[in-house]
Formats: sequence, C-alpha cells, structure tokens
Amino acid sequence: MEKTANTQYPISSLLAKRWSPRSFDNKKEIPQEVINSLFEAARWSASSNNFQPWQFVYGLRGDKTFKTITDSLVEFNQLWAPEASMLFVVLGNELTPNGQKNISYQYDCGAAVASLTVEATERGLFVHQMAGFSPEAISKAFNLPENVKPLVVVAVGYADVSEKLHPNLIDLEKAPRTRKEISEFIFNK
Ligand SMILES: Cc1cc2nc3c(=O)[nH]c(=O)nc-3n(C[C@H](O)[C@H](O)[C@H](O)COP(=O)(O)O)c2cc1C
Repeated sequence: MEKTANTQYPISSLLAKRWSPRSFDNKKEIPQEVINSLFEAARWSASSNNFQPWQFVYGLRGDKTFKTITDSLVEFNQLWAPEASMLFVVLGNELTPNGQKNISYQYDCGAAVASLTVEATERGLFVHQMAGFSPEAISKAFNLPENVKPLVVVAVGYADVSEKLHPNLIDLEKAPRTRKEISEFIFNK
C-alpha cells in the first residue's frame, strides 16, 4: 500500500514515500548486500564530535537474535513486527571516549536511523521504529554494559496488504497520515 505524504511544499520523493507500515511480507528476505548498505548509510551519518555513539544488533526472521528482539516487544508490537524480514535494536553509548556524558548520543542515534530509513526507501523497503519494547530485557539478553542504552527497536521489510493484519490493526494501517501545520512549528521571529 502507498501512503505518500500530502505535502504543502515539494520534497524528495524518498521522504514523501516513506511511512511506517505494520503489514510486512513474511516470505521475503532482504539480501545481505542490501542489509550492508542500510547500515553503511547509518555509518555515514553526522554525529557530535564524530563520536558515532550508535551500535546495531540485528536479527533476521527465523534466527535466534530475531526471536530475542521479538520477545522484548510489548504485546501490541508483537501482533505485527514478527512478520518483518529484519528486526534490529539501536544501542546508544551515553559516554564519550573520555568517559564523559555525551549529551547528543540519542540525537545522533536518531539521525543515523533517519539515514538508514532513506536508504531503505530507495531500495523498496519500509522501516517501522518502535519504542514499545523492554530495554531491560534487551540489556540482559545481550549482556550490555551500563553505558550502552537500548533506544529503539526497528522493523525492516517489504510492505504487504493491510487485510492480512490482526483485525485491531487494519484501520490503523489504512488511516490517512497526518501532520501539524507548518505554521505551528516553523518560526521566523
Ligand atoms: C521513536 C519512535 C517510536 C515508535 N514506537 C512505535 C511503537 O512502539 N509501535 C508502533 O506501532 N509504532 C511506533 N512508532 C511509529 C509512529 O507511530 C509513526 O512513525 C508515526 O505515527 C508517524 O507515521 P509514519 O511514520 O507512517 O509517517 C514509533 C516511531 C518512532 C519514531
């Protein structure tokens, strides 16, 4: 399904086409070279002091890491995310290489995922980010040090028809995408 943004001003077609589906094709796999390009796109994101505070742990549908990540999701996300081809966790290092607090680490990790999302769209993939997961479960499962924080789980895959979703999700999938008016958040004085 397409849910291209109804923009007030023209934007790149990749940005307009991107949206967050919940219906993923559970038969398709993402070729490894495409997975490599997604993380390469994240790698070249800008970050404060070029600290690159992100790490990614990914699982492919059917493997052990995918199951571990699935198990960390809240019930609502478990209704749909296990159909995706790939799930990954974004981990952020809250410390600089000198051991000080890096106030930009979450911002930088989000920017890296944004780059990855554009690359994914270019390759016909869709990305759905989730805050609905247990960071504690991820920290425990992957034995993370205290300074490495699980920030978000991301589903990636090829979109499928909305009709195959859990009945509670179909209306959400078909609902129009909405945004604030530009005048509500852009200021010039
Ligand atoms: C940080 C973050 C957390 C999110 N968490 C969830 C989630 O747990 N479950 C879910 O179904 N969608 C989640 N979303 C998806 C948003 O609801 C979605 O991006 C937003 O409604 C805008 O829709 P669009 O991406 O299709 O434009 C999350 C998105 C972001 C960026």
